[in-house]
Parts: sequence; C-alpha cells; structure tokens
Amino acid sequence: MPKPYEAVRISDRVHWVGAIDWEIRSFHGYGTPRGTTYNAYLITGEKVILVDTVKAPFREELLSRVASVVDPGDVSAIVSNHSEMDHSGSLVEMVDIIRPEAIYASPMGKKALEANLHGGIDVTVVKDGETLTIGDATLSAVHTAMIHWPDSMFTFLQEDGVLFSQDGFGMHLASTERFDDELDPALLEYEAAKYYANILLPYSPLIKKLVSRMGELDLPVKVVAPDHGPVWRSSIARVMGLYEGWAEQRPTRKAVIIYDTMWHSTEKMAHVIADGLTAEGVSTRVLPLGSSERSDVAAEVLEAGALLVGTPTMNNNLFPSLADSLTYLKGLRPKNLVGAAFGSYGWSGEAVDQANAALEEMGVELVSPGLKVVYVPDEEALLACRELAAKVAARLPAAT
Ligand code: FEO
Repeated sequence: MPKPYEAVRISDRVHWVGAIDWEIRSFHGYGTPRGTTYNAYLITGEKVILVDTVKAPFREELLSRVASVVDPGDVSAIVSNHSEMDHSGSLVEMVDIIRPEAIYASPMGKKALEANLHGGIDVTVVKDGETLTIGDATLSAVHTAMIHWPDSMFTFLQEDGVLFSQDGFGMHLASTERFDDELDPALLEYEAAKYYANILLPYSPLIKKLVSRMGELDLPVKVVAPDHGPVWRSSIARVMGLYEGWAEQRPTRKAVIIYDTMWHSTEKMAHVIADGLTAEGVSTRVLPLGSSERSDVAAEVLEAGALLVGTPTMNNNLFPSLADSLTYLKGLRPKNLVGAAFGSYGWSGEAVDQANAALEEMGVELVSPGLKVVYVPDEEALLACRELAAKVAARLPAAT
C-alpha cells in the first residue's frame, strides 16, 4: 500500500528509511544552511533489521518509510550504531511500536541509551569485532569510540557489502538525492570537510587509527551508509582518502583571518593583511565574524596553515564574537597552525594579548607578539600589517 513517505533502495537488501530535515539551520551551534538528513536503514531478509533511528520529531517519517517496505511489526532487531539523540531520539517510541526481539549496541551504547532515554529498554551488547547473525544477515561490528561519541560503532553487512558508518563520512546536507553520484562533487567535498572540521576534528588521532584498521580489515565495502547526508557508492575511495588527509592535519599554504570591528579600524588591518598574504602566494580566507558562523571558521581552518585573529578591545576584553569562535576552535583542537593577533584599540588594548593567549592555549605557534594600533591605522600601521603578513607567509609550506 502506498505510504506518505517511501523508502529508497540502496542495495539488494538495504533500504534508506531516514528523514530529511529541510528546516534546521543550527545543529547545536553548527550552522547548517543546507539542512540535514537523519539516516536510518532497513535490512530485509529472513529477519528485518532497523539500523539506527531518527531525531524524535521525525518519527512518523521513519515509520512511514519502514511501512513502505514491511509491516513495522515485522522488524525483529534494531542496531544502534550511535546513541546521540539525532539517531536515537525516536528509539523508545519505535520499540513500543515494533516490539523487536533484540536491540544491539556497543557496551558504551547500552549505557548511553539507558541514560539518555530512561525508557527501560533492554539492550544487548555487541563486542568489538563480533559478528552477529540475525536470520540470514551477517553483521560485523567495528567499535569506533569517539567517532563521534564513546559509544559509536560501524556495522558491516557482509551479504551486500554495506558499511553503516553512523556519523563517519557524513555531512549536513538535505537533498532529494540519496547517492553521492547524484550530487555535485565539490559540494560533497565542502560539506564533508565542514562536517569533519566541526564534529570529528578533535578525534583525528583516533581517525588515523581507524583508517589504518579499516585498511587491515579490508572489508569488501560496496556502499558506505552514514547517518547524515548522501550514501556513498561511487566515491568511497575518494572520501576515505580525504579522511586520511584531514586526520593528518598537514598545514597548507592557506591562511584564515577572522576578525570583528567596531569602527572599521581592525577591519582595515584585516584587509591589508589579506592583501599582503595574497601577494605572498598564500590562499587567504577572510571571515568577518559579524557575518560568519563559527562552524564556517572551523571549516576554513581545517586545511589551513595559519590563523590570524583581529579584535578590537571592548571594555578591557576580546570582542565577544572572537571569544566565541576562539572557544569553539579550542575545543576542536586544530593542529600545526602558526598565527598572530592584531587589532585597533582606543584606551587600553588588552584584547590582542588575550587573543594571543587564546591562540597559544590552542597550540598555535605565534609569529608575532601581536600588532596593536591606537585608533585608526595610518599608513605606517598598515605597512606593519603587511610586514605581519610577510612573516606569516614565511612560516607556511611552499606552494605545491
Ligand atoms: Fe549525528 Fe553524533 O550524531
């Protein structure tokens, strides 16, 4: 019988049964101008298995897509690869509806689901490397702690070669297209990089290990099915290669300038520094924080070699937007950056020192004690901005 929402087949035995969130514009502070999807998957066969669920308000959409393939009551098992609420928010209600024989999760997944959902659900633990046989489906578990939460795991459906990778290889992108090859590769790369920078960057050392472990396991992956964004079927090697590179955090000849301004003086300094960097062959991104999201800053910093911070002093402090972005970036633990702070002030000028301290705390190697200008920068001050740009450029890798 037709249903309001239909499933999309992604392999012989697997359907996408997720939900599309066209409206969301902030995902716990991560700007999502293109919305997102919460992907869930249905494996059919002797037993029907649901892999992950969706954010709570999207339960009806999930249920409808499941019902377009099977009677929801026929679902025998749920595998929870990741317990964050965007993937488990509708789990308790789904359990009430479908009454599965078993719910599987990693040991930390069991703890998190019980703590998050208070639903009295009974979760069966899956060990790292364990292979579950559910009817005629064979699912192998690879624990991926901290990618993205301590509970996270990948599961691999051996029969179809589908790797369910929860947040791994995901992106926030709402689209009617379900597959990578139906979308612009540049858009996919941008959104995948932004997702990596904002969600996974702090765990890069673990991602390096995971990439190496996946290589050793040599699973015959034909499809990568993440919990956000499109399913990968044509560019699997490409996205895995990108992850390998991002996890290394190798600096490139790219600089990111973030700044805010009260009376356009710090702005003038930022513009001249950008001009100087460009003249030195540095690919430069300028992000005025009055109109840039912190998650866009993180996305630009991902492959950068330098971070420059421009801040006026406001009431003896950093300008608030700089404090926001620097706090956010610190949590993401970017590596291998050089940097400098600059800014105009009227009375006391502490903000540049504070920005430098924040950069140092983040592990950024400072190339300057900080460039402070009183009130409006004159030509001499602007030439000092250019000198700062040259110093930064000298510390970046040569263009390849
Ligand atoms: Fe998409 Fe970590 O949740």
